[in-house]
Amino acid sequence: MNRRSFLRSGGVVSVLVAGGGVWRAYDQGVFSAGEGPAYEPWKDWRSGSDGDPLTLVRAAILAASPHNTQPWLFKVSTSAIALYLDTKRNVGALDPYLREEHIGIGCALENLMLAAAANGYGAVATLLPGKLDTSSAESGPRLVARVDLVRGKGQENELYKAIPLRHTNRSPYDPLRPVPPECLETLMRITSDETAVKVFLFAEAAERKRIVEISSAANDELYSDPDVKGASERWIRTRWSSVQTFRDGLTIDTFGLPPAATAAAKLMSAGMLRWAASRAQKDGYSTLMMSAPLIGMIAVHDRYDREQTLRTGRIWQRAHLLVTTRGLAGRPCNEAVEMVDHERMRGNEPRRLSLLAELTGDAAWQPTFIFYVGYPARPGRASPRRALQEVLV
Ligand SMILES: Cc1cc2nc3c(=O)[nH]c(=O)nc-3n(C[C@H](O)[C@H](O)[C@H](O)COP(=O)(O)O)c2cc1C
Repeated sequence: MNRRSFLRSGGVVSVLVAGGGVWRAYDQGVFSAGEGPAYEPWKDWRSGSDGDPLTLVRAAILAASPHNTQPWLFKVSTSAIALYLDTKRNVGALDPYLREEHIGIGCALENLMLAAAANGYGAVATLLPGKLDTSSAESGPRLVARVDLVRGKGQENELYKAIPLRHTNRSPYDPLRPVPPECLETLMRITSDETAVKVFLFAEAAERKRIVEISSAANDELYSDPDVKGASERWIRTRWSSVQTFRDGLTIDTFGLPPAATAAAKLMSAGMLRWAASRAQKDGYSTLMMSAPLIGMIAVHDRYDREQTLRTGRIWQRAHLLVTTRGLAGRPCNEAVEMVDHERMRGNEPRRLSLLAELTGDAAWQPTFIFYVGYPARPGRASPRRALQEVLV
């Protein structure tokens, strides 16, 4: 079962609420969403003594990452924090160049920089230059960025305070409630200091429909590859005990299903879940994407440039925090770009490249990350996080 078909299964699972017993409900965490050790990092993220640089790492690990792989490692001293990409924590054929894992590190870096400013540090980030390639996935931890710290004056801002409130929200959105103009304008300006990263926003229904068609077709094609399907499933945690043990991956609580369907899905066996997913509404993903009033795209000059990829992650994290402060929600929907990688890796005709270039209208800007934003039907749920000790080297 792949990520998308699993997410589409809400309508079917809701008829199966009656399955399972109370003991199983406890065992599967039906009554404990967001509780237990796997969720502690969301609660104690501001703990630690004044000026302790580990506070910055506590904020960093609450960032987004592909399939919640949390591909980060941190080496901390009083004057600097080095960020490493843990190449073992990858989604295989879904991200053969580790492009998305680098975006995840960029997300963590953004949280870290916001936390540095809020906790009285002047921080300067240096991103290591380089090209992404398929061999990236085979080596060990790789240094990708360094943050130099000097003590300064603390200045909290609204984005920092939103760090524990930001969650990827996969529920439907309200198609009749547009993103307010102030939020839209702030989003448009989010890359004004960047030279090699640019945000494109699409609010018109016809433009969104085109992106949804491209994304949905890409999703179907991508997950028809057994290698992609297998690599993705490795990070889907359906047992509550696995959620609490591994503290990573995609969990049923974050699939955006209504409460009864979430409970039902948690009670199902793997076989039942597979059956439910196979009966899911075929155009469910398109309908979900179209419910969002705004689709955005982050584009760069070179999709396989490491620095530009890390910057993309910083921008997504900042954009997601921004919409969170305004009471909106967001979700990445990056299958079309994942298909660009897939076609490149397999040596197939680069069909998505031209489709995506059509959308930006400028071949100099290569989309590397697609997302949607709006007012959600239900609040987003926290995803698990590994403990601080597990990500320090
Ligand atoms: C590069 C990247 C690509 C992602 N792609 C998708 C996607 O295509 N669909 C989706 O539902 N979530 C996607 N996500 C969201 C992650 O699954 C999410 O960040 C992770 O599960 C942690 O959850 P959180 O963001 O709620 O903390 C992506 C995140 C990143 C950083």
